[in-house]
Amino acid sequence: MTSFKQSVIYQIYPRSFADSNSDGVGDLRGIISRLDYLADLGVDILWLSPIFQSPNADNGYDISDYESIMPEFGTMADFDELLAGAHQRGLKLILDLVVNHSSDEHRWFQESRTSRDNPYRDYYIWKPARSGGPPNNWQSFFSGPAWKLDEQTGEYYLHLFAEKQPDLNWENPVLRQEIYRMMRFWLDKGVDGFRMDVIPLLSKDQSFPDYPEGRYGDLTTYANGPRIHEFLQEMHREVLAHYPDVITVGEGFGVSVEQVNLYVGKDRHELNMIYHFDHAVPRDEYRFMDPAPEFTLPELKAVFAKWVDALADIGWQNVYFGNHDNPRVLSRFGDPVNFPYESATMLATVLLTQRGTPGIYQGDEIGMTNCPFDLIGEYDDIQVKNAWRALVASDADPAKEAQFLQTANRIARDHARTPMQWSDAPNAGFTDGPETWLKVNPNYTHINVKEQEAATNSVLKFYRNLLRWRRQTPAMHEGTYRDLLPGHPTIWAYERALYGETFVVLANFSEEPSVIDASVDVVISNYPMPGEPGELRAFEARILKGQLEQLMPDSD
Ligand code: GLC
Ligand code: CA
Repeated sequence: MTSFKQSVIYQIYPRSFADSNSDGVGDLRGIISRLDYLADLGVDILWLSPIFQSPNADNGYDISDYESIMPEFGTMADFDELLAGAHQRGLKLILDLVVNHSSDEHRWFQESRTSRDNPYRDYYIWKPARSGGPPNNWQSFFSGPAWKLDEQTGEYYLHLFAEKQPDLNWENPVLRQEIYRMMRFWLDKGVDGFRMDVIPLLSKDQSFPDYPEGRYGDLTTYANGPRIHEFLQEMHREVLAHYPDVITVGEGFGVSVEQVNLYVGKDRHELNMIYHFDHAVPRDEYRFMDPAPEFTLPELKAVFAKWVDALADIGWQNVYFGNHDNPRVLSRFGDPVNFPYESATMLATVLLTQRGTPGIYQGDEIGMTNCPFDLIGEYDDIQVKNAWRALVASDADPAKEAQFLQTANRIARDHARTPMQWSDAPNAGFTDGPETWLKVNPNYTHINVKEQEAATNSVLKFYRNLLRWRRQTPAMHEGTYRDLLPGHPTIWAYERALYGETFVVLANFSEEPSVIDASVDVVISNYPMPGEPGELRAFEARILKGQLEQLMPDSD
């Protein structure tokens, strides 16, 4: 059986994957209809972003009933069929566990807000006002204060995300047991595990201190609270330990290399793996409107090396370039205009040869790009909408609109959420209906699955080959990782080795050719013909077998 360390995860954003009933919203039957595609691709684990009942303030990350399916996505019978269909094809299925907060429309919150002595009051975090205002200076990750006054009882509730996402009170053992019961419900159905949303936020500092200005918008500030490991170990004891092959991926929101092994260390009995945010779109703070300059390649390489070092043989990570919270990786680090095939396949090579369990985000396997949104109104994401509202409220300067759009066009989450591009039919073959819930990227006419199935060389086919090769190459799973040229400005060169079998990966992150002495056997390359010996062309990537005696970069 493939262990989680040998596996590759594929993330599905159900709203945008495939629509089966022409309403413009992706759904479970849409996913069922594409299971063969996913099995052919060669991934092992499907992670579904939330599919549960939700008013969709944050596209399903605000759950109003953890045990029923969002009607727009289908029924429980559809889900059972999807799970069975995945299993028949040897695919595992993991669900998104969103238990730092629920929706304010969850029955628990509806009860909780009715009176200070309601039995559900302690399912959430309620505090009285402090000098007529919020209980402390905590800020929401979606702009504005993290506290909302609820008129009914005259107290404030905590919401680290949107107002419609009240934080659950993990100090309450009754709430914890409700969550464990719900997890068992899904695992008993045969679900293979969970991706755990903002899991390091569950435990809050019970003194609820004010944070120094400049820190209160930082994503590390609220993470890794005093009881987090006690809670995760309890969850393991009560639930996970009873399902031997269960797969758990923590969203390592605010987790640093110093803390990571506390979550994923072999003997900790917490999680299998975690993914960090250190290479996410740089911002001074988590706040939307503070983008910082993009990483240089040496900075990016340093992040990857640092995490491999920190985990060593103690813990494990999930490695990703894209997900539903980041813009498209091809638009960040590739050249979608001049070298779409070369740069998308180069990025695939680097992702799928890292030490860790790679996560492919839907659409990256065909080289989907950021979407040109022309108006603020075309965005859907609450993060963008709230940031825009906050900006307008603080500053009515019309010039700000252009600047805001420019920022959003670079970093907004909606770039990853536009419908999957299946063909050049209207609406990219995502739906038969006339409309889609979010704009379709106009480049679907030439970037789509159908065309890439037909072409001899395509990003999709490259992914398939590489995934097949990776599966049978143990050095790519638990092999060591060594950066060979950490300071090189445009080449990422590293070695993966296991039991005397050594591979070298060379990837050119620029259109400028570079000369690297690399005269060993090429196993995989994204250029059809070998070039000049040792010359890496624009966005060229090669996997070589055997050790390089020496690397001779043309610059260092
Ligand atoms: C996680 C999710 C993100 C969501 C947030 C609140 O970061 O990945 O999409 O908005 O948690 O649930
Ligand atoms: Ca639909």
